[in-house]
Amino acid sequence: MTTKVVVNGYGVVGKRVADAVNCQEDMDVHGIIDIAPTSLVGIANERGYPLFAVSDEARKKMIDVGMDVKGVFEDALQDADIVIDTAPKGITTKNVQIYEKMGIPYIVNGGEKHALTGSSFSALANYRETVGVKKTRVVSCNTTTLCRIFTALKAVSTIDDAFISIVRRGADPVRTSSGPINAIIPVLGGYSHHAPDVNTVIPDLKISSLAVKTSSTLTHVHMIRVKYNNEVSRDSLINSFKATPRIILVSGQKGITDNAQVIELFRDKLRPRNDMFETAIWEDSIFIEGDTAVLIACCHMESVAVPENVDAIRAVLSMEKEPQNSVIKTDKGLGIFQEEADYSIL
Ligand SMILES: NC(=O)c1ccc[n+]([C@@H]2O[C@H](COP(=O)([O-])OP(=O)(O)OC[C@H]3O[C@@H](n4cnc5c(N)ncnc54)[C@H](O)[C@@H]3O)[C@@H](O)[C@H]2O)c1
Repeated sequence: MTTKVVVNGYGVVGKRVADAVNCQEDMDVHGIIDIAPTSLVGIANERGYPLFAVSDEARKKMIDVGMDVKGVFEDALQDADIVIDTAPKGITTKNVQIYEKMGIPYIVNGGEKHALTGSSFSALANYRETVGVKKTRVVSCNTTTLCRIFTALKAVSTIDDAFISIVRRGADPVRTSSGPINAIIPVLGGYSHHAPDVNTVIPDLKISSLAVKTSSTLTHVHMIRVKYNNEVSRDSLINSFKATPRIILVSGQKGITDNAQVIELFRDKLRPRNDMFETAIWEDSIFIEGDTAVLIACCHMESVAVPENVDAIRAVLSMEKEPQNSVIKTDKGLGIFQEEADYSIL
């Protein structure tokens, strides 16, 4: 018997999560819920996923434009084992009340606050704590990336202090009315929320962050400075990154000099939607001075947390108790399994 997964919100993240679930052997897309009578949501019909509307009113509009709609919200949840909520901020908070009432396990995503579920999830950093919790939040694209990188950095030696500068993309490519078009918008009022969000998953890490939003749509870029409590070698960091699943090293010396080249690499790999599920670290940005290391990484915000959503299903429902078992399954299903990585470190 496979696990029946409903995805509520077939937008940027939801459509990717549905496809990721669909390529796992132990789970199926039981239903998609959305509100929009659009061709983009209509792709769910083409994929063969049962499509449901949020309400009778939405259902009528969707049927009017020729979409095949099986029913409404509650119909989708009948017989489902779990819901992944990828609806917009604000809507998810209301949806959660329905999941609670129906007693159905659920997973929310990075736009929501930790307090909504009381549990935040990173497959690499805290899988075991999430086993059997019935509800969790898969942390945002930035936090997922930072949790992966700090899992690898912590494996090298004890970290005294870390600082992150985040250059955020202005908007996902599909958000044509978002900006900035020609500006850089800094976070004001002190440190940004990103470091405290990492602490919802890795509480013992002393970390702070600043962020700016730029007129770009490709990826976020993270500039990281880590102070260890002893001297470390560059090789030890590189070996740890190589051993850690879902981290890849790219190199300016090999022509990958910017995030556009990184995305082009994933276009050329013929990844669906040019998705980069991994976190890319520029090998030639890694520099050590005594006990201090610096490096620069980038993440594809639309897809980076998708594998973690799949792992969160297995953790929340106790389908796999050990992280490596889930991560291996997810990565093989997605075609991103790394032969050179050491999945037993998880
Ligand atoms: N976009 C990213 O780069 C990104 C990255 C990581 C995490 N996240 C998080 O994932 C979650 C989903 O974000 P997204 O970017 O995929 O959102 P999105 O706006 O692209 O998609 C939301 C979908 O939900 C649908 N929807 C379902 N019920 C709805 C209702 N009642 N009213 C309105 N719309 C309804 C919308 O039609 C849309 O298809 C958020 O928590 C977000 O913070 C987003």
